[in-house]
Amino acid sequence: MPAAVVVGAQWGDEGKGKLVDYLARRADIVARYQGGHNAGHTVVINSETFILHLIPSGILHQEKFCVIGNGVVVDPACLLNEMDELARRGVKVGKNLLISRNAHLIMPYHMALESANEALRGEKKIGTTGRGIGPAYVDKMARCGLRMGDLLLPALFREKLEGNIRGANKLLETLYGSPGFKAEAVYADYMKFAERLSAHIGDAGAVVNKALAERKNVLLEGAQGTLLDIDHGTYPFVTSSSAGAGGACTGLGIGPTKIKSVLGVVKAYTTRVGSGPFPTEITSELGEEIRKKGGEYGATTGRPRRCGWLDIVGLRHAVRVNGLTGLAVTKLDILDELDPIRVCVAYKSGGRTIEDFPPDAHVLETCEPVYKELPGWKESTKGVREFGGLPEKARNYINWMEDALAVKADMVSTGQKRDELIVLREQFA
Ligand code: IMO
Ligand code: MG
Repeated sequence: MPAAVVVGAQWGDEGKGKLVDYLARRADIVARYQGGHNAGHTVVINSETFILHLIPSGILHQEKFCVIGNGVVVDPACLLNEMDELARRGVKVGKNLLISRNAHLIMPYHMALESANEALRGEKKIGTTGRGIGPAYVDKMARCGLRMGDLLLPALFREKLEGNIRGANKLLETLYGSPGFKAEAVYADYMKFAERLSAHIGDAGAVVNKALAERKNVLLEGAQGTLLDIDHGTYPFVTSSSAGAGGACTGLGIGPTKIKSVLGVVKAYTTRVGSGPFPTEITSELGEEIRKKGGEYGATTGRPRRCGWLDIVGLRHAVRVNGLTGLAVTKLDILDELDPIRVCVAYKSGGRTIEDFPPDAHVLETCEPVYKELPGWKESTKGVREFGGLPEKARNYINWMEDALAVKADMVSTGQKRDELIVLREQFA
């Protein structure tokens, strides 16, 4: 039947992994459509924690078919590590994983270029995850990128690689004063990766479209978040892909008419990793408390996440650019002890009130939050599974958010575990 998108509504780390794991139960296919191993999607099953970077979070349901779409950038070494690590833990990755032959490859020089460029930016660095994501997308847009399908054609791969390494080495050696790469060695490594990955490479778009034509359920797993989107985020402090729902179509090769729902994952407060403006950031001791209670440390890089209050201005922007049909509010339990709870309802800048999110870092930097205070519930919501089982003030917090955004909450997550979840509306019939 339909395709359902799960998209981050903030700066990533909203808890997309847990929701995808839940929704995957009714899906036939789970697909990633953008980003790469900069993502860190956490799923907790019983007492085991799985952190998925490239492989769709649906893989933990072993009967589901997982797809890495053309819009994703793939570091094959990382992918193989992830596959091996899953296998070691009893999760099989075999015929259940298909990678688009048009997905671009992350090469070792991409990481080197990114790290040199970040160093050159100094204070103005983006604070990337250091995975080579940006430079891989640069090559894609410059029309010189190597793709998964090229791994199957060694002579062509070699020829393209030699051209690209010449260019990368010139930049690394002359501009950045860093060592370059030897095509021979990179070629040998990638041919080894190809041996193991070739069986997974194919026409992902055809498979996903066939499933949709057969009225199967396709779940599209976004990585990062709307405010990190290359077009709609806080440019330049963004990631290099279309992290919003729009990316789901281009990143898999499906038509927009196939998408029936777009679930926006909203953490009950806000976090951000890396540099860039963050109007509701809490710089006092309280920020540290929330970080500790919420375990707000990067799942990919381990960096402490910056913590702040819920930002309705940013969320309204996410509702608009993604056309959200529902909200999934996560980590509600982390707010259990706070009273009052602040929510940002507008910004002030240069004496003006701003209600439309400015997706431009230098404008957002001038914005001061205008807060409203909502009463805290000061009771545990951990593990609550029925909306009616939440304290009244917690229900009011969710209802207030629904009114402010004019979108209903389809789900509320009350803990890390699989069943610590309130489901108000399913995405698939
Ligand atoms: P998930 O999918 C949070 C951030 C980085 C940096 C910026 C650019 O787990 O929500 P990049 O390496 O992508 O070029 O870095 O984007 N970033 C994320 N922040 N969650 C993520 O993924 C992120 N992926 C990238 O911290 O600020
Ligand atoms: Mg993450």
